[in-house]
Amino acid sequence: MIGLIVAYAKNRVIGNKGQIPWRIKGEQRRFRELTTGNVVIMGRRSYDEIGHPLPNRNTIVVSKTANYEAENCVTVGSLTEAIDIAKTKWPEMNIYLSGGAGIYREGLDLADKLFVTEVELEPEGDTFFPEFDETKYDKTVDEAVDGEIPYTYVTYTKKNER
Ligand SMILES: NC(=O)c1ccc[n+]([C@@H]2O[C@H](COP(=O)([O-])OP(=O)(O)OC[C@H]3O[C@@H](n4cnc5c(N)ncnc54)[C@H](OP(=O)(O)O)[C@@H]3O)[C@@H](O)[C@H]2O)c1
Repeated sequence: MIGLIVAYAKNRVIGNKGQIPWRIKGEQRRFRELTTGNVVIMGRRSYDEIGHPLPNRNTIVVSKTANYEAENCVTVGSLTEAIDIAKTKWPEMNIYLSGGAGIYREGLDLADKLFVTEVELEPEGDTFFPEFDETKYDKTVDEAVDGEIPYTYVTYTKKNER
């Protein structure tokens, strides 16, 4: 399974000045639960924000300029190469495309499922999740979480193209 995992605001903002423009305690729980034991693919800037490989999963960084090598972390030059490596090295694992915008843009065509956290904010931002054709997906609302900044976990599953 290739999944795409993202948290976006009501105005589709995913990032601002190299960071995620909100901090919501507990919001990253689903990211951790889904990706642990699996493969995470992310762009160089997203990796730089985290600054280290994520524990208990395999990280593939996409970059043409940098080379991050560590335990459970490799760097490749394209998203297709990243997916090929993941499927070859860890055929039993799920793959999660984890941003940023370029990876999402290219990844939308490749992902079977989109795991989205809809964040009830309209923050300032410079990085956006691309528009996509929602009619090509079945949408389920998995969990709505109240709080100072409410958010909802939803899943879009790509319909079979026949
Ligand atoms: N809200 C969320 O769920 C979420 C998730 C992830 C990131 N973010 C935010 O998004 C922002 C970062 O995203 P971004 O779009 O600016 O950067 P990014 O995608 O993380 O990184 C961009 C870099 O990755 C490499 N890259 C990306 N796509 C590529 C492709 N298809 N082929 C080859 N190389 C590729 C290139 O590296 P080189 O220049 O080294 O070649 C490119 O300059 C940050 O603000 C971050 O906090 C938010």
